[in-house]
Amino acid sequence: MPHRKLVGKIKRKEAVVGIIGMGYVGLPLAREFLLADYRVTGFDIDPEKVSRLNRGVSYIKHIPSTFIKKYGKKGMFEATDDFSRLASVDAIILCVPTPLGRHREPDLSYVIDTTLKIREHLRKGHVVILESTTYPGTTDEEMLPLLLEAGLTVGRDFFLGYSPEREDPGNREYTARTIPKVVAGITERCLTVVDHLYRQVVVSTVPVSSTRVAEGSKLLENIYRAVNIALVNEMKVIFDRMGVDIWEVIGAASTKPFGFQPFYPGPGLGGHCIPIDPFYLTWKAKEYGINTKFIELSGEINTNMPFFVVQKTARALNAKGKSLKGSRILLLGMAYKPDIDDLRESPTLHIMKLLEEEGAVVDYNDPYIPRLYRMRKFSYDKESVPVTAANIKKYDAVIISTAHSAYDYEAVKRHAKLIIDTRNATGVTGTVAGKVWKA
Ligand SMILES: NC(=O)c1ccc[n+]([C@@H]2O[C@H](COP(=O)([O-])OP(=O)(O)OC[C@H]3O[C@@H](n4cnc5c(N)ncnc54)[C@H](O)[C@@H]3O)[C@@H](O)[C@H]2O)c1
Repeated sequence: MPHRKLVGKIKRKEAVVGIIGMGYVGLPLAREFLLADYRVTGFDIDPEKVSRLNRGVSYIKHIPSTFIKKYGKKGMFEATDDFSRLASVDAIILCVPTPLGRHREPDLSYVIDTTLKIREHLRKGHVVILESTTYPGTTDEEMLPLLLEAGLTVGRDFFLGYSPEREDPGNREYTARTIPKVVAGITERCLTVVDHLYRQVVVSTVPVSSTRVAEGSKLLENIYRAVNIALVNEMKVIFDRMGVDIWEVIGAASTKPFGFQPFYPGPGLGGHCIPIDPFYLTWKAKEYGINTKFIELSGEINTNMPFFVVQKTARALNAKGKSLKGSRILLLGMAYKPDIDDLRESPTLHIMKLLEEEGAVVDYNDPYIPRLYRMRKFSYDKESVPVTAANIKKYDAVIISTAHSAYDYEAVKRHAKLIIDTRNATGVTGTVAGKVWKA
């Protein structure tokens, strides 16, 4: 029975794990399997990433190069762009991107391309697991039919499942190992295999009845965040007009011991997940004749936040007899959230563009992003400027856009002429307090 044989191999740590897509999800997952004494092969189409990994060089802040070097030397880890090597691994885990297309439709091309490569090398005793965030039906409607073309039977010869990634980059409290993992399989045996594999590396697994439930659970988690962040962003705009400090309101509401979970406003939504994933459901729901009203509305509110920040900056400068045009502005924090080096979908990139369109002269500092590079939507040629007292004094306004913990906010408060605080990093009370304007 291939499934018993495979489970045995997994339990004895003889199974080799192949992870496709060595990015923010794939590399930390590889780390967990290595720590649990599994041999791991990392597959990626980016030759630069493959070469860096094989030289023992990490490109993710919280995975040290020393770790990669150590496991490379031990012969436990190797990266490759040779997909024929899929034949020699036992578990194949897909951590490839699932972005949106030009019309905000799901772009499953990475998942499909990878599935086609797996099909070429699929053999008895393989377990294939999708981790990428996607709409319910991707595993059974999109991947399964392609894999079946290899002539093998699912649940008997090979196993297919879905297990959503819950990686939270920058979170010091939880790692991939300490977050329970939802697991699902196409058949009962598929689930057994998938469950056994993850049980070796995570604190607990949460088996569910179908891959669609697992896909849906990931979307619910992210949509829940998108909608609640939109709610506090809307409340921020309303309260701001009334002169009420939203952060003080949230602090007070949070003292209720039940029925309330705090979410915090900001300059907009960023990252690879929260601004994007909800639209996977929007697209799929259309197939069922349903409009996802909450998702659309929260998308609209969240994408308006950079405009709110720029408007607030203009008002604050105006109050000092200055205009945006010609003002020198320093953006503190470009990453989409604190203490990480990820710029994807960062609303601060949008704020920078809006400020420059109004004629402001904009610089930035981010301790984790030494220079801005060419991206899909934005193209800046700027280097991070130092945050010294002398430097801060040069700017007409400092916008705190991402509250990295490395910043000395007291020093910023002391030296800046004007501060627009989008994260409540200054800790002052009120919508305007001296030279601090909340936004
Ligand atoms: N980053 C997160 O915090 C996070 C959290 C939960 C879920 N996810 C989901 O996980 C998936 C991966 O996200 P990520 O942040 O790791 O993306 P990423 O861009 O950091 O990494 C993806 C990697 O896949 C590689 N790749 C692309 N196409 C490939 C192919 N055909 N074959 C092999 N490799 C290929 C890329 O070169 C890159 O190294 C997405 O579906 C995302 O929504 C991400």
